[in-house]
Amino acid sequence: MNYAALIQNRKSTREFTDKQVSFPTLEAIRGYYLNKVHRLVPELKTQLYFFGTETRDALERAAGYHQFLIGAPQYLVLMSEKHPAAHLNAGFMMEDLILKLTELELDSCWLTFTDSEEIKEVLGIESDLEVAAIAAFGYGKKTVKRIKLNIRSMSDIDIKTKYRYMEPKRSVRELAFVDSWGSKKNLENYIGFFDDMLWEALYAASNSPSYLNRQAYGFVIRNGSVSLISRPDEYNTEIDGDLSLGVVLLHFTAVAEHWAGKIRWNLQPEEADLGLPEGHKLVAAAAI
Ligand SMILES: Cc1cc2nc3c(=O)[nH]c(=O)nc-3n(C[C@H](O)[C@H](O)[C@H](O)COP(=O)(O)O)c2cc1C
Repeated sequence: MNYAALIQNRKSTREFTDKQVSFPTLEAIRGYYLNKVHRLVPELKTQLYFFGTETRDALERAAGYHQFLIGAPQYLVLMSEKHPAAHLNAGFMMEDLILKLTELELDSCWLTFTDSEEIKEVLGIESDLEVAAIAAFGYGKKTVKRIKLNIRSMSDIDIKTKYRYMEPKRSVRELAFVDSWGSKKNLENYIGFFDDMLWEALYAASNSPSYLNRQAYGFVIRNGSVSLISRPDEYNTEIDGDLSLGVVLLHFTAVAEHWAGKIRWNLQPEEADLGLPEGHKLVAAAAI
């Protein structure tokens, strides 16, 4: 997949047509999940369920931003065994599936949830695994007016119809630090060239979808390594925070691997002296 291009084309779609997704297309998604999907923790047991329009009302009462229905023809529900990195891994895998949907010219949107048991119950899922990630997909309405979420908090989602769709996101220069958190010294040496691996990978990271578009993270680059740091965020829930971290790791990794070959993230990195302010956490580190 041409990740750099797919990442630029992906956006959250919240208005869908009734057009159904064909059986061969659903099979292509299932085949990708079974054989190719990127996994952050490959040994974790997962399962992918597909649901159609008939589950829309039940599912969207239990998942999604409050008072804001998506109403898609199809849903993906990714299940995972319990593990401290289950949601990081699920964010990584589901975002890879979403980029596969983008390649198949399908539109999509992540759906937040808090209670795995409730989702299992409304969907009639009988499994030892837990619900780890949910996304809606189908064919987006082609309309000039886009519904944009001007998000302040979960209880104050201010929905405005706007002509411009994209939410402003943090730029590469806002996300990247050198040697320690907050330091921009010699940043240009690392990301000064637009066609360099690090710039491309960080640009892909800066385009990541995140819960409430919070992008509560940053990267610290050191000679030969990169670390993902989570920032404290008053709106993030634990699940959505971890899913969003998994998503940004997928964006960075998929593009960086195009240049550098396999990237292995250490999810229990030794605490390096990264000058992290209170509440910031070292999530993962990799040699680059
Ligand atoms: C873990 C997670 C949960 C999300 N939950 C929802 C949701 O329930 N409803 C929704 O409309 N968007 C949801 N989103 C999408 C974000 O709001 C969206 O990514 C962000 O506003 C940036 O817009 P973009 O995806 O078009 O780049 C979620 C995204 C993530 C990563």
